[in-house]
Amino acid sequence: MKLDITKALQFVDANAVQAFEPAVNDANKALEEGTCPGNDFLGWMHLPSQITEEFLDEINACAAVLRDNCEAVVVAGIGGSYLGARAVLEALGDTFGWLKPSDYPRILFAGNNISEDYLAELIDYLKGKKFGVINISKSGTTTETAITFRLLKKLCEDERGKEMAKKVIVAITDAKKGAARTTADKEGYKSFIIPDNVGGRFSVLTPVGLLPIACAGYDIKALVKGAKDMEEATGLNIPFADNPCSQYAAIRNALYNAGKKIEILVNFQPKLHYMNEWWKQLYGESEGKDKKGIFPAAVDFSTDLHSMGQWIQDGERTIFETVISVDNVNHTLAVPTDEENLDGLNFLAGKRIDEVNKMAELGTQIAHVDGGVPNIRICIDKLDEYNIGQLIYFFEKACGVSGLVLKVNPFNQPGVEDYKRNMFALLDKPGYEAESKAIKARLA
Ligand code: PA5
Repeated sequence: MKLDITKALQFVDANAVQAFEPAVNDANKALEEGTCPGNDFLGWMHLPSQITEEFLDEINACAAVLRDNCEAVVVAGIGGSYLGARAVLEALGDTFGWLKPSDYPRILFAGNNISEDYLAELIDYLKGKKFGVINISKSGTTTETAITFRLLKKLCEDERGKEMAKKVIVAITDAKKGAARTTADKEGYKSFIIPDNVGGRFSVLTPVGLLPIACAGYDIKALVKGAKDMEEATGLNIPFADNPCSQYAAIRNALYNAGKKIEILVNFQPKLHYMNEWWKQLYGESEGKDKKGIFPAAVDFSTDLHSMGQWIQDGERTIFETVISVDNVNHTLAVPTDEENLDGLNFLAGKRIDEVNKMAELGTQIAHVDGGVPNIRICIDKLDEYNIGQLIYFFEKACGVSGLVLKVNPFNQPGVEDYKRNMFALLDKPGYEAESKAIKARLA
């Protein structure tokens, strides 16, 4: 993985990035020594180097049971409890089948919304199929996931019988507390623990991400190896100028101080759409607090050049772009020659589609920089487990550093509780009587 910030430097003062060196180094030190705000949530920092082969084998063994007994596996989870797995699966999978080998189960995602239509259609799809469920919730009480799991548990037991349901339902949750733990223990489901000191959005390298990824047939050892190599490449001993996380954190904060309040994560590969979604949560939930923080937005190019391109080229100059560029694609496909050339495309005949895409990428970079949009590039060799593992750890570590430089606690998310309190009050949840009365009075 290579980080290139040269096309962003012209938008900040000459020494703006260098000026962040002391703050970035302090942040790195505080993360390493566990002295920063949110220091009870630093378990992700050394996960890659601490995960054992035996633990990965245990995850692979559980995945094999699901694969052997299911045509489809539903991952029930929301936010940090699904976005990482979905990002990796979409990045690695076949776009029109998701999974390369035909004998692997299809992975479906649910528990991330409260749409009656979504759930009813999911149930229709699953009826008559051999399916399993991975129920993921750290708190074990998240409403979206809990409602979905209640439906899926019943369906699985009805369709496949109680004994098979016990075999193909797996829980990933807290060691002791929460309804998901209570149910798993009572029913005797296989379960994995989400460590106390790993927050949801930093949990993709725990069973939260690793089990669905293994279940779909991908090499979780290569994924973790990529993350481990990035852990080493961004360690405390790596100087500021050579540490990509330090550089990314510094340029982001320099741009923010220069009035660039919105960061747009850009890909030129639709397979990275959910990597964008995962990144948005990681940075949005970590930095958006205390009335501060870069707003994380995302686009898929060239698709969105035809919808958002105008705004990015010519709208308010408060944005910067971070492009994830994939050097090598996994397929080979060229533009065919056409004797009649009715579409006038013969000037491209014989060219790889990826070459056209790369020229779109370069042309866009030049146009946007000319238009006043700072451009950061993250180049990865190709979309495989190793490179995605590197990218994940890079973004996690840089997020921790960047948030601390911004002087927020990157590891809490107090703001997400407000809508839940209102929803529970409106639904007359026991324990919310006073809130119910107050909110209904406001609405009357
Ligand atoms: O990052 C986070 O903490 C959140 O996105 C949670 O992962 C999300 O709200 C789901 O919570 P839980 O895993 O407790 O169901």
